[in-house]
This record gives sequence, structure tokens and C-alpha cells, in this order.
Amino acid sequence: MIALFPGSFDPVTLGHLDILKRGAQLFDQVIVAVLNNPAKSPLFTVQERIDLLRESAADIPGIQFESYSGLLADFARKREIHYILRGVRSEADFAYEMPMAQANKQLTDELETIIMVTNHAYAYMSAGLIREIAAAGYASIFESGFDDKVLDQWVTPTVKNMLKNKFM
Ligand code: PNS
Repeated sequence: MIALFPGSFDPVTLGHLDILKRGAQLFDQVIVAVLNNPAKSPLFTVQERIDLLRESAADIPGIQFESYSGLLADFARKREIHYILRGVRSEADFAYEMPMAQANKQLTDELETIIMVTNHAYAYMSAGLIREIAAAGYASIFESGFDDKVLDQWVTPTVKNMLKNKFM
């Protein structure tokens, strides 16, 4: 069985990697699908996000990386993939995921969304919050004494370096 693990991954977090690792144990193959949506003006380009994913997930077997634009349900149908893997951290995430799963099912009936509960260690953290902490922290690193070791609990060293390059 093959699953798509779609998302913005701007950037990939340890929470994403935890879901990916556990998903790779459930499915024969997991295709990480990075949304190419310039309207969202992401911090990292699609290629940067894929490179960060590839390096950060180098130890996870059976995964591939691709990008998509347009509807996820169309991408899955064209690739003949029937499973979408998503991680949920909270009730708020569930409230976001449920209509998306139901809409995707209406768009492509053979599509099943498999929801995996995030490891509690990462339940409060998001890529958005990481971008905010890195942006403010690195911008004021000399006055504030921001210690970027704090980022190690949320992202891989590769992602941390890229954040530093973006903001310092
Ligand atoms: O990491 P994110 O931003 O929570 O992932 C959301 C994502 C990218 C999976 C979702 O927004 C998506 O697939 N968008 C593509 C357009 C689409 O299919 N929209 C309808 C969803 S019902």
C-alpha cells in the first residue's frame, strides 16, 4: 500500500518526521507531497523544502518526495494512490482535518484519509511557530542573547542551519 503524506512543510519539523517514520512502518511506501502554493508566500521554496525533507528524513526507508499544485485529490487520483496520511496534534487540528478528509472523499471516492495522532512531545509545536521564533530570535540575537539550541527540540540541524541563513 502506498500513502501520500501531503503538507506545506515550511519547514519540516520533528513532529512531521515522527508521523513520517510511523507512517513508513504502516505503508509499503510513503510519498511526501509538498504543496506548491506561491499564494501562501512560503519562507522556503518548494525545492528547499524538498531538500530539507530529504536530508532530515535520510534514515527513514521507503519514502519519496514530490511536489504538487492544485487539488490534492486530483494528484492522488492521477498517481493512483488511495491513502492520505495526516498527523493531528489537537482537537483544533482534527476540526481542520475532518472537513478536508470529507471533501477529498467527495472529490475522489476511492481516497481514504488516515489520521495519526502526533507524539505528545510535539503536540504544541508548528512550522509557523518555529518560523516566528527563528525570525525574531535570529534578528535580535546579539541584543536578546537568543540561544538557537532551543530549536534543536523541534527541528533537525539541517533545518536549523537553513533558518539561520534565512534570518541572520
Ligand atoms: O501542512 P498543511 O498546510 O496543513 O497542509 C495542508 C494541505 C497542503 C495538505 C492542503 O491544504 C492541500 O492539500 N491543499 C491543496 C489544495 C486542495 O486540495 N485543497 C482542498 C482540500 S479539501
